[in-house]
Amino acid sequence: MCGIMGYAGSLNSQKIILTGLSRLEYRGYDSAGISYQENGSLQLVKKEGKLVNLENAISKIKIKSRIGIGHTRWATHGKVNDTNAHPHQNEEFSIVHNGIIENANQLREFLQTNGHKFKSETDSEVFLELLSYHYKQNQNIQSSIFKAYNEIEGNSAFVIMQKDSHKLYAIKRSAPIVCGLKQNEKEVFVSSDPYALMGQVDNLYFPEDGVLIVADYLSSKRLIFLEENETPSSRFKLQKKELNEEIISKGNFDHFMHKEIHEQPLLVSSLVEHFKKDYKDIPDDLFKGVRVVHLVSCGTALYAGMVIKNFIEARSDVKVLWDFASEFRYKNHRFSTEEVALFISQSGETADTLACQEICKEHGLKTYSIVNVEGSTLFRNCDYNFLSYAGTEIGVASTKAFTQQVLVGHFLTLLFLRQLDYEKVALDFKKLASAMNKILDEEDKIKQVAQKIYNYKGFIFTGRGIQFPIALEGALKLKEIAYVHAEGYAAGELKHGPIALIDENMVNIAIITPDLYKKTYSNAQEVKARKGKMVVIGDESNKELEELADYFIGLELTEDLKVFEPLVTNLVLQLLSYNIAKLKGTDIDKPRNLAKSVTVE
Ligand code: AGP
Repeated sequence: MCGIMGYAGSLNSQKIILTGLSRLEYRGYDSAGISYQENGSLQLVKKEGKLVNLENAISKIKIKSRIGIGHTRWATHGKVNDTNAHPHQNEEFSIVHNGIIENANQLREFLQTNGHKFKSETDSEVFLELLSYHYKQNQNIQSSIFKAYNEIEGNSAFVIMQKDSHKLYAIKRSAPIVCGLKQNEKEVFVSSDPYALMGQVDNLYFPEDGVLIVADYLSSKRLIFLEENETPSSRFKLQKKELNEEIISKGNFDHFMHKEIHEQPLLVSSLVEHFKKDYKDIPDDLFKGVRVVHLVSCGTALYAGMVIKNFIEARSDVKVLWDFASEFRYKNHRFSTEEVALFISQSGETADTLACQEICKEHGLKTYSIVNVEGSTLFRNCDYNFLSYAGTEIGVASTKAFTQQVLVGHFLTLLFLRQLDYEKVALDFKKLASAMNKILDEEDKIKQVAQKIYNYKGFIFTGRGIQFPIALEGALKLKEIAYVHAEGYAAGELKHGPIALIDENMVNIAIITPDLYKKTYSNAQEVKARKGKMVVIGDESNKELEELADYFIGLELTEDLKVFEPLVTNLVLQLLSYNIAKLKGTDIDKPRNLAKSVTVE
C-alpha cells in the first residue's frame, strides 16, 4: 500500500512532507518522491529505493515552497525505478495515487490517440493525463477531477496539486484519505494514514467515496467538501484525535516490532476497560438466530480468526467457516438468513477483505468487523464493529494486533453465549498479561535458541487443534521478517507427505501443549527419528518434552490460562522469529516486498 502526504500552509512544506513520508514508509517503500511549487511552476524530486535516497537528493536543493505533495510507493503497475515513482507531473498538475486503475490500458490508448504523451509505465499517470484532458476542455479543475474520477475503475485515492494554486485537491474510492487541521493555524494536511499526521493536527476528517476535498489554507474553512454538482457535502466523519509523539518512537527498542511485542501485556490488561465503554449498550440480540459465521480475512488476521473459530465452536453449536478473502470473493455464494459475516483486519483497508464485505452486504448478510483503525473503510462499511485497541501498529509484521484480535474474539464468544462477566474477563486478561510478562522477562532463553537455529534453511512449525493456526502464524512471522522458508502445518498432517522434508537440515518448531498431547508428541517423535532438529514449546514441567527436544522452551501452562494458551505460545514464536531476523540482519520493520496494508488485489 502506498503512502500519500500533502501539505499547504504558512510553513515550508519540505520538512513537513518528509516527516509524514517517514511515518508512512512502513506501508510501502519501493520509491519515494515530492513535488512542490516554485515561481508558479511545479518542481519534482523522486527516487527509487527507500526514503533516505529522496532525502539525500533533496538535501542538495533548498525547497522554499509552502505547498507540496509526497508519496512512498509499493509498486503495483510498472517496475521500481525513478520514472515510475510518484508524484506524476506535467505542466499543469502533479498527482500522487494509492490503489489500482483497472481500466488504465484502455484509458491510456484513448489519451494517446488524443495526443497525450506518457513518461512512466504506471496506471497513476493515466489519471494525471485524463485530468489534464478534461481540464484543457473546460478549464474547471473541480469538474475535471470528478470527470476523471468517474471514468476510472478500481479502488484509488488521489491528491492533486495545480501549478500556481495554493489549493490541494483529494478524492477517493475505497482507498483511505484523511485530512487534518490544527486549531487556529493556517495550514491543511492530507494523507492516506492518520499516523502520518500524528502530533501535527487536532482534528481528523475522513471523507467518504466520491467526495471532493478542496484544501485551501487561505480560506476561513480551510477544508471544503464537495459533491459532484459542486454543492457542499456532509459525507465526511470528524474525529478528534489525541495523536501523541510517544507512539511514533521506538523508545529503548531497536525495532518497532520488538516494541510492539513488548507492549502486548499492557494492551491486554487494558482491553476490558474499552469493552465496558464500547459495549455498555450492546443489544442483547446482536447474534440472535445466528447459526453460521463466515470468517473472512487475510494473513495474520485470518489466523487470528481461526483461533476464534475454535473459541466459538468449542462452546456452541454455531458453525464458523473461515476462508481467505482472496478466495471467498470469487466463490458462488448462497446464504441463508441464519448466516452472518465477520471480517478481521488491522488496517481496515485490505482490498480483498473489503471486497468480501461488499459481497456479503449485497447478499443481505449482517457484517461485523474486528478492526484496529477506527474510521477505516471496513469500519465504515460494516454493520457492527469491535475495535481491537492495539494502538498504531508500525511494524509491517503484525504482532500486537493479532493478540488483541484473538481477545476480542474471546469476548465476542462470551457475548454470544451470554456468559459475559466483565470482572471475570478482566481477571483472566490480567493473568494472561502476567504470563506474557514472564515470557518477555525471559526473552534471553528464546534468543539463545534463535542463535542455535538461525542459519538453518528450512523450518516446519507444527501444532494441533487451536495451536494449528499458531503454527501458521509463527511460520508467517519468520517468512516475513527473516526471509526464511517456513511452513505451518497441522501436526497430524506431517506423515501425509511433508515428513519427506525432514532430515538434519530441517528444523521442526513443535508446539506440544496438553491438548491432544499424546498424538502431537508422537508426531514429534517421528520427526526426531528422522534427525530433524527439534525445537519444542510446551509445559515447563514436562520432562518427556525436555528429553525429546534439542532445544526446549518451557512455559508455565496453568489450567486457568488454558483458553489463552494460543496467545502464550504465539508470543514465544513472535520473539523467536524476531531474534532470528535480528541475527540475520534483515529490515525487520520494513521487510522487503511487503506493505503494512495491502490495498491492492
Ligand atoms: C501480517 O504480519 C502481515 N503483514 C499480513 O499478513 C497482514 O496480516 C494481512 O495483510 C492483513 O492485513 P489487515 O489485518 O490490515 O487486513
